[in-house]
Amino acid sequence: MKQPLVIANWKLNPGTVAEAKMLWQDINKKIPKGNTATVVVAPPYIFIPEVSKRKSIVQVGAQDAAPEERGALTGEVGPAMLASFGVQYVIVGHSERRAMGESDGLIHKKVRALLKRRMTPVVCVGEKVRDEGGQYLSFIAEQVKALSKDLTASEIAKVVIAYEPIWAIGTGATATPADVKEMQLFLMTTLSKLYDRKVAAKVRLIYGGSVKESNAAILATEGGMNGFLVGGASLNAVEFGAIVQACNKK
Ligand code: PGA
Repeated sequence: MKQPLVIANWKLNPGTVAEAKMLWQDINKKIPKGNTATVVVAPPYIFIPEVSKRKSIVQVGAQDAAPEERGALTGEVGPAMLASFGVQYVIVGHSERRAMGESDGLIHKKVRALLKRRMTPVVCVGEKVRDEGGQYLSFIAEQVKALSKDLTASEIAKVVIAYEPIWAIGTGATATPADVKEMQLFLMTTLSKLYDRKVAAKVRLIYGGSVKESNAAILATEGGMNGFLVGGASLNAVEFGAIVQACNKK
């Protein structure tokens, strides 16, 4: 079985470096004893040096990366810069960034740049709405198909795919365990068709969208995914610790 992966996506939070330091320390304290999950916290770039200073079982991640290592890209932070702070996991193609205009092409360029640095890209996919006719499945299939056009089998095997239905992000409207299970099977089938079953089995799949202390256990046991990408609830150390605990029980 794959090791569970739980990623905290702090987004544009907290407001100051002092608060970031405190939240990081609190989260570290709430990681259950004997934890078997890989736990990653992705703070805003500017807090990475502060939280990566201390040795910890929690890994430091990033919420995005530039598609290039260096150059005339004002405001960007590149894969090599992140790697030099020990960052291993990087979220790319989050729906909030796609909404700012990021295309599949740009996202895939970022994925490749990260893989070159031996980092793990966490590629987000997810539909805007759920229709009864199942159109959302074709939408997800297209997103994965586009990714497969730019990634070889050995590249995709190193990627984490985060299924984050947009309607569930920050809304409190979590997908049901059955929805999550359906998507896990669907992603496996889609990847098997695009590559093969062996390759598909290597890709780690996680779920994100209003994961909370109250729904983590059932989603972990019945959703069939390898872990979670947690936004809002990761700003509360107690709640995030409970979510990590739920993944440990799996
Ligand atoms: P949420 O966000 O947990 O607040 O819904 C998840 C995400 O956007 O990664």
